[in-house]
Amino acid sequence: MDANPERTPERQEFYARIASAGLAPLWEVLRGLITKEPRSAAVPHLWRYDAIRPFILEAGSLITAKEAERRVLILENPGLPGQSKITNSLYAGLQLILPGEVAPAHRHTQSALRFVVEGSGAYTAVDGEKTIMRPGDFVITPSWTWHDHGNDSPDPMVWLDGLDIPIVGFFDASFAEGFTEESQPLARPVGDSIARFGQGLLPVGFERRMATSPVFNYPYARTREALETLRRTQEWDPCDGLHMRYVNPLDGGWAMPTIGTSIRLLPGGFATAPYRSTDGTVFCCTEGRGKTHVFGANGQVQTLEWGPRDIFVVPSWAWRRIEASEDAVLFAFSDRPVQEKLGLWREARGNA
Ligand SMILES: [Fe+2]
Repeated sequence: MDANPERTPERQEFYARIASAGLAPLWEVLRGLITKEPRSAAVPHLWRYDAIRPFILEAGSLITAKEAERRVLILENPGLPGQSKITNSLYAGLQLILPGEVAPAHRHTQSALRFVVEGSGAYTAVDGEKTIMRPGDFVITPSWTWHDHGNDSPDPMVWLDGLDIPIVGFFDASFAEGFTEESQPLARPVGDSIARFGQGLLPVGFERRMATSPVFNYPYARTREALETLRRTQEWDPCDGLHMRYVNPLDGGWAMPTIGTSIRLLPGGFATAPYRSTDGTVFCCTEGRGKTHVFGANGQVQTLEWGPRDIFVVPSWAWRRIEASEDAVLFAFSDRPVQEKLGLWREARGNA
């Protein structure tokens, strides 16, 4: 589209007069509202875990998990300062729970994922069931379910939180409440959900209650084993290597209604073809090392060099190429399920 129309004194006088009537001229803002292509204010960024870990632990000496309710350092996109966003539609943070601590039970309409970065043995309880968390586990707390976290292990636990806070905020649909007790009562044994829903079986007569997967822990050990078995076929996607998504076993859709989660294996030496999509994506490396080159609209290239536990974000519609210098596994999440439901999601694949 062309440049904005000229702002003549006559027009400006008119704009000022109609403002008091709750009106504004579309032609003055049209080009910013309806762009030819996505123009994200979010920027590519890498959080190197070793560099930020001291701050996370320092937060542990400043405030208790109980006082903070959730002791989290927000991963804020430098292009979206002060907005508690990692992409325009998603929130991310790193949560610390020290040995013996409990993050008290509450619930909210925002859906959350946890991806364990450091430590092993803390738990998340969701709607009366506990799951023990280990590195690389993907754990879900669905919208409006009671959840609390606790650490019975001898070591600090840190995990990546991903929430749809900006999406729920966009709809002005946020509700939250605290539970009467610090921890919720447990109604089922550990492993119950995986046994019921995560073994290629479903209880006969099960009636679906919510849009989120009833499996609320996808253990890394099983995910990793699947990737290792599948690599023997060497059916590498040119843009993504071996790329699998986490599914809701009830319908094969995404595990969460608002956040799409996936995991990739890239063999050492693999360099992907260029790729872009409309879902700005957050990546967390569990194993291996590599680089992600992100190409800006202005032709500038930003190279993010990552290793285990590092987190990086690629904004909507930015071309990216990934190079694995050794066998690498990348967990990722984005708002793709929402865009797909709304018929907005697009991707573009470049040539190698
Ligand atoms: Fe929460």
